Amino acid sequence: MERFVVAGGARLAGEVRVTGAKNSVLKLMAAALLAEGTSRLTAVPDILDVAIMAELLSRLGCTVVRAGDTVQITVPERPGHEADYDLVRRMRASIAVLGPLVARCGEAKVALPGGDAIGSRGLDMHVAGLTRLGATVTSEHGYLIARAPRLTGASVWLDFPSVGATENLLMAAVLAKGTTTIDNAAREPDIVDLCQFLQSMGARIGGVGTSTLEIDGVEGLHPAEHRTLPDRIVAGTWAVAAVLTRGEVFVRGGRAEHLEVALDKLVQAGAVVTPGVDGFGVRMEGRPRAVDVVTLPYPGFPTDLQPMVLSLNAVAEGTAMVTENVFEARWMFVNELTRLGADVRTDGHHAVVRGRERLSGAPVRAHDIRAGAALVLAGLVAEGTTEVHDVAHIDRGYEGFVDKLVALGADVRREVVPDEPF
Ligand code: EPZ
Repeated sequence: MERFVVAGGARLAGEVRVTGAKNSVLKLMAAALLAEGTSRLTAVPDILDVAIMAELLSRLGCTVVRAGDTVQITVPERPGHEADYDLVRRMRASIAVLGPLVARCGEAKVALPGGDAIGSRGLDMHVAGLTRLGATVTSEHGYLIARAPRLTGASVWLDFPSVGATENLLMAAVLAKGTTTIDNAAREPDIVDLCQFLQSMGARIGGVGTSTLEIDGVEGLHPAEHRTLPDRIVAGTWAVAAVLTRGEVFVRGGRAEHLEVALDKLVQAGAVVTPGVDGFGVRMEGRPRAVDVVTLPYPGFPTDLQPMVLSLNAVAEGTAMVTENVFEARWMFVNELTRLGADVRTDGHHAVVRGRERLSGAPVRAHDIRAGAALVLAGLVAEGTTEVHDVAHIDRGYEGFVDKLVALGADVRREVVPDEPF
């Protein structure tokens, strides 16, 4: 077990580079299963989740070789079709092999990931969509089993623009017989990135970036090469950190156009955001103003930046209302923020945050990736020392988080926790 020890008070200043997007690269790795041979992905972040996906692909018979920020995935003629519980429970995104395996192997057996710290995380839209494409989907002994000699194109409507369901159905439909239409599809930049990789493998996809995707199934795909797009949630995390600490940071490689609503909120808080070549700058002078936020599917305010904006509002001037519309239980983090002295009240989808002059350092626990990062940010503006425990969650989504913070002037260190109970 490791923790981060954060000493409050630093003003972040300098440049930080954004790595490839976790929520894209995991699906790109799964998509490689759709073609026999070697696909090559670049700008792959060095994070725990990538290692888990690599392990999952290896167990399916693939050879996965990493060199620097490049990952080569060699897929055999007949990959395995079972994704084990011990991997799926560690990373929900493992469910992304469901679509490619049923399309490529005619059968997929994936352990049910269950819920996590942010919500029940249903899979009903994945199941309903695959069933529309002609698969028989059953749930047995904790596994989801999908079978179809060959999928058949169909029209699918998603009740909610689910990222995961859109991706799984997209990856299933590219090898189906005939045309599939996915309506009310998710439009996140990660989906566009996946579509571009699939197109470079020979897939025929129309409506990329819109809420209606049209996929003409093909007989077969070939391996391809793809550069992962920059991680907008990581870029957004650095932007909030700059504002929270009243600092000045250039987010190298960050795409401002993928963060319009979030950056606009930071401008409302009083920051100056400057688009640059290959990135954008964020500067904050004085105390930020409280900002109301409503999380929504893309292009709305990303739910993954909700914990960071809670930390920001906790020390802002005034009172803010934060509304969470994507994950019904994404307030667990509030208990930890309250330990640092924040004044946050939640009721259903809403949280009311009364900004305080300052927070005070305390031991807290990360319950998920984004909550962990947001607690470190809160620790940067808390008096004294904050210990963030269970930082393995942070390592799942942030490459070199401590080193990058230190390079920006923060006083943060990683420590192994002696076996005392916390
Ligand atoms: C992806 O999760 C991301 N994870 C999440 O990021 C992100 O928060 C989320 O999209 C929304 O942007 C990865 O890409 C690995 P959804 P996903 O399907 O695909 C409900 C992070 O920190 N739903 O869009 O699981 C679901 O319960 C993570 O990086 C159903 O009810 O999200 C949720 O309330 C956290 N039935 C909502 O829809 C379904 O069949 C959105 O889920 C599918 C989803």
